[in-house]
Amino acid sequence: MNADSKNIEATAPTPLISQYMRVKAEYPNYILMFRIGDFYEMLNDDAQTASEVLNIALTRKMIGKGKKSVPLAGVPFHSVDGYLAKLIRAGKKVAICEQMEDPKKAKGLVKRDVVRVVTPGTVIEDNLLSPQTNNFLVSLFQDKNIWGVAIVDLSTGAFAVTEFDSRRAKEELFSEINRLQPAELLVPESIQGVVSELLGTSSGTLVTPLEDRYFEEGDARALLCDLLKVQSLHGFGAEHLGAAVSAAGAIARYLRETQKTALSHINRLQVYSTSDFMILDYTTQRSLELAQNLQGGREATLLSVMDKTITAMGARLLRNWILQPLKEKTVIEERLAAVQEIYDNTSLREGLEHHLRRVFDLERIMARVGCRSANAKDLLALRLSLEQIPPLKALLARCANPLFLRLSEKINPLDNLRDELALAIQDNPPYMLRDGNIFRDGYNGELDELRGIMRDTKGWINQLRQKEIERTGYQNLKIGFNQVFGYYIEITRASLKNGPPLPAEYIRKQTLFNAERYITPELKEKEEIVLNADERSKNLEFALFEALRDKVGGFTREIQELASAVALLDCLSSNARIAIAGRYVRPEIGDDGRIEIFEGRHPVLEAVMTERLFIPNDTQMNTGADQIMLITGPNMAGKSTYIRQVALITLMAHTGSFVPAKKAHIGIVDRIFTRVGAMDYITKGLSTFLVEMNETANILNNATSNSLVILDEIGRGTSTYDGLSIAWAVIEYLHNKSKKTPKTLFATHYHELTNLEGKLPRLKNYNAAVLEKDDKITFLYKIIKGSTDHSYGIYAAQLAGVPEDVVSRAKEILFDLECGNTINVEVGRLGGKRSKGAERAIIQLSLFDGAGHPAIERLKNLDVSNLTPLQALTILDELVRQCR
Ligand SMILES: Nc1ncnc2c1ncn2[C@@H]1O[C@H](COP(=O)(O)OP(=O)(O)OP(=O)(O)O)[C@@H](O)[C@H]1O
Ligand SMILES: [Mg+2]
Repeated sequence: MNADSKNIEATAPTPLISQYMRVKAEYPNYILMFRIGDFYEMLNDDAQTASEVLNIALTRKMIGKGKKSVPLAGVPFHSVDGYLAKLIRAGKKVAICEQMEDPKKAKGLVKRDVVRVVTPGTVIEDNLLSPQTNNFLVSLFQDKNIWGVAIVDLSTGAFAVTEFDSRRAKEELFSEINRLQPAELLVPESIQGVVSELLGTSSGTLVTPLEDRYFEEGDARALLCDLLKVQSLHGFGAEHLGAAVSAAGAIARYLRETQKTALSHINRLQVYSTSDFMILDYTTQRSLELAQNLQGGREATLLSVMDKTITAMGARLLRNWILQPLKEKTVIEERLAAVQEIYDNTSLREGLEHHLRRVFDLERIMARVGCRSANAKDLLALRLSLEQIPPLKALLARCANPLFLRLSEKINPLDNLRDELALAIQDNPPYMLRDGNIFRDGYNGELDELRGIMRDTKGWINQLRQKEIERTGYQNLKIGFNQVFGYYIEITRASLKNGPPLPAEYIRKQTLFNAERYITPELKEKEEIVLNADERSKNLEFALFEALRDKVGGFTREIQELASAVALLDCLSSNARIAIAGRYVRPEIGDDGRIEIFEGRHPVLEAVMTERLFIPNDTQMNTGADQIMLITGPNMAGKSTYIRQVALITLMAHTGSFVPAKKAHIGIVDRIFTRVGAMDYITKGLSTFLVEMNETANILNNATSNSLVILDEIGRGTSTYDGLSIAWAVIEYLHNKSKKTPKTLFATHYHELTNLEGKLPRLKNYNAAVLEKDDKITFLYKIIKGSTDHSYGIYAAQLAGVPEDVVSRAKEILFDLECGNTINVEVGRLGGKRSKGAERAIIQLSLFDGAGHPAIERLKNLDVSNLTPLQALTILDELVRQCR
């Protein structure tokens, strides 16, 4: 406790400070925004944090009877949203404490209460959220070997659970968390350490530890049933998932404690398994730059190229499509057929686009309805969206594809609700619900009556003005209104000076520089009626609105179904439009394990490359003779691009998208594995080589005949011979793995590996072709059969501007190495000229120089074909030690 906190306690606290301390004690881990008049005040550490995050002044407030002071930061109530957004984005949790009664009417201390708690994972305000991404609150629970995961997006109502129980549960969990990118993670206190270790220090996710009792299964189950308003979890198929139920129950409790309101929009629990989809582990999600590029941004990702959705709901769904591609041939084909129809039918395409543009974010509107924070603009947006449904339904009814026909059947246009909203809400209602002017005339008899009184009064005031002008003779007499003393009569002082006296019932209220203001009993009598009517009508509108909002809440399920239909149509039509714009073709989907691509292109590189054309390439892979493509070639020749392109095309096809190629046959893939380049793992505290071997082990242990494996430069993280040996052993293993023949694309600089062709019947050599002429090479970016024996690394060095001296010296060394010559080590060579006393040492480089060495003897006796990769690694490790 700091000195300032002690200050609070040391003084005899005023009632206000006592009230503050009581509330603060209930929310110790939150920034408490304490409403005092027109400001929210934050004290002590909260003030400190707020002033840093919000960049606002830190002052001091005198408190208590002993007049001590504490740090204070305050924000005006009307601009609280912006400040709240900043705090949430900085990963803070905020409790908002309001005045629960009108200070003017309160007797004694104003009642105050926390009305809402906002945390990064429980945000529902549009201005705090990104429309294109879900805002997930994820909860984890570990029961021995089983990890239960529950996921909720309070801003859309999505709620799902899954479990991981395999040997690699932790890795799978890590990949799933990476897919979800949670805004906040709930974990039992007792495993907080395990989770932090799992996430690594680089993760930006806010971890909220909760007492273990939040996850106690019995209570969890009860709270969950309560949230979902069901008797048991049978209907969702979640009954038997103990760990997942514990995790979900903790969410239910956390939401109850933070939201303090019914959550009608959270009404379903989806049980899923990551194995229902193509598995894309963490490394693959990152290295293929699916939804996030290596820098963490959205540019130049597959998502950025594929997402041409129009609605926010569509954008969120498309992201899920990319990170959870399908595995069922029939479902993929159904999507592709639907895309085809939109692709072929211009009026369908334009019709969809036209109507989708006019649909608002129904999921988030319903979330605000569910949390009772929706305003009149939300209900207006709902009505405008509902108006698009009948034409969409009609459009789909005219389609041929069964998916569209089913959708058309299923869509419930909610005509009555739409009509009621249309009759109710004005065209441009205010944000604030207390300001009135929400409802149209004719919606409610009592409201009409009150408005009649007010309108009538305006007419009456005009009449009164006429009457008073006649009565007093002052032609410029005006009737005005202000907050302080209501209606008044105003006459300029200039005219009063020479004018007739005023009637006796005129009471002077205010003297201005150039006018006098009066009231009369008649005026005040009317004022009473008007102001009453105004206040009553505002209260009535507020009550009517709450009732209407609750009524809308009764249609939550139906509107959520409409939202899903809209999102689906949006994604399908986005797929059709990118296919047209990008000249993609519809892939043929097979379950024969073949991947055959004719003139395939890299979807992202092609889209960002403006200065020249992208060179297409073919691919032929299967589980037979074309299982492994070993690709060599110079630096910068297009190897990495090519192998990624095959992975991306394969993945796109599985999302129901056309692909950048002339023709493609894509056999169903259960999983894409990648091991690409050296990525930044320093933040996780692992050596690059260890990570690489970890990932390689994962691939070798889990790849099946239906998997696609992308290996780029594996072995690069260690010395040449280690690397080569590992690469070699890995290829052999992928080739010889019993009954499992994962299709593998292997890009490498180790030319020695090309010797494997012929020895391994399912491996084929390819190379990235270059044209060599007069010491200059031109990249052709064509992947052709056969191998090269040049790596042109030195040429690349030259292109990159490495000093000419180094380049020419490298050429000399290369020449000597290739001829098996000894290499002269030059000492003291400066500025390109050999200095006088340059000494030369001579070193012979040869792998077998150490003949007779025990390590060499051991190597000679090894039977590589009988080793598992792990054994190979262990032996390798021993050999390395022997040689040192
Ligand atoms: N098919 C292509 N058409 C046009 N340009 C291409 C093509 N493939 C690659 N390129 C260009 O060549 C650059 C280098 O490609 P890439 O990184 O795939 O080469 P690499 O062979 O993997 O090189 P390194 O061996 O250094 O890793 C790309 O950034 C791109 O600009
Ligand atoms: Mg490369």
